[in-house]
Amino acid sequence: MKNLLPTVHVLYENPAWLPPLTVALDAEGFPVALHEVWHGAVDPARPPEPGIWWNRMSPSSHTRGHDESVALMREQLAWLDSWGARVVNGARAFEIEVSKLRQDLVLRRHGILTPRTVLAVGRDRIVEAARTFDGPFLTKHNQGGKGLGIELFHDAGELAARLDSNGYDPGPNRQVVLQQYIAPAEPFITRVELCGGRFLFAMQSSTVGGFELCPADACAAERRQPDVCPTDGSAEFSPAAIGEGDPLVKSYLQLCAAEGIDIAGIEFVTGADGRHYTYDINANTNYNGALGRAIGIDGMREAARWLRRTLANKHTPEDPSVSWAWA
Ligand SMILES: Nc1ncnc2c1ncn2[C@@H]1O[C@H](COP(=O)(O)OP(=O)(O)O)[C@@H](O)[C@H]1O
Ligand SMILES: [Mg+2]
Repeated sequence: MKNLLPTVHVLYENPAWLPPLTVALDAEGFPVALHEVWHGAVDPARPPEPGIWWNRMSPSSHTRGHDESVALMREQLAWLDSWGARVVNGARAFEIEVSKLRQDLVLRRHGILTPRTVLAVGRDRIVEAARTFDGPFLTKHNQGGKGLGIELFHDAGELAARLDSNGYDPGPNRQVVLQQYIAPAEPFITRVELCGGRFLFAMQSSTVGGFELCPADACAAERRQPDVCPTDGSAEFSPAAIGEGDPLVKSYLQLCAAEGIDIAGIEFVTGADGRHYTYDINANTNYNGALGRAIGIDGMREAARWLRRTLANKHTPEDPSVSWAWA
């Protein structure tokens, strides 16, 4: 049976993220081929190898010395798209993944409440945008991840002074996102894990340690090294009460279906007004191993199972690459 399944081609930048995925794909019987996306060539005339492609690009790849990766990935996804290749979290999902502005746009389009968000480029435009906020706000890198560039400000003057000091990093393309700060009613945020049109689980993550809340086991290892990750970020993860029947989860599932996102971890913070403000779509997600063991759900295995289900009864041994469709 194993050799009847198509190869899964994993496009990646961060090797630390690979093991949970490759172990899960292997356990489900998929042959796996790995493709580094910090160098490469894209020949439009050349068709992609047969199989399924899985986008594991990280929007924080530039922090590992891979400044080229996001832009190269964009070209590769365009090439895969134009050949009709099946890509898990393909080109549309990727454009959302690498832009907090676009995340806000799609959330709003789907009627989901977000903190007020503005993108600005250039010192004066950033300060002008800051003046339009009534209360505290955060700055973030538009192409974010790992809590990069997240700082809290109370007014435009404070931000102006910070911009004029040495050491403020506006991030890739100098695109700074200013976002209304929602003081959490309780000291946690919630992350909802979705895969293939289904709710997997939701978890709470403590906000006590700072803004770096990547659930990946690899990031937990990094957090123990202050040199690698400047935020304290001693995040703790525990199951969250929200479930698949919740209207917000239903909205997330509709958003993912409409926007071509196969796998996502979507985050919200509950404010003092009791409302849920959604601020991060990880169109690509990592699962926390310790939490997964505690609740008995292996997220990557579920993702691999979902892929297998989409193939069930739809492929033929003669040409497994072309005869299936998304479930
Ligand atoms: N608007 C906000 N109000 C309050 N806290 C926020 C807000 N946006 C982000 N945070 C906090 O910062 C963390 C990182 O922000 P996020 O936008 O998820 O960045 P990243 O994409 O780097 O993960 C969040 O998990 C949350 O704890
Ligand atoms: Mg986040």
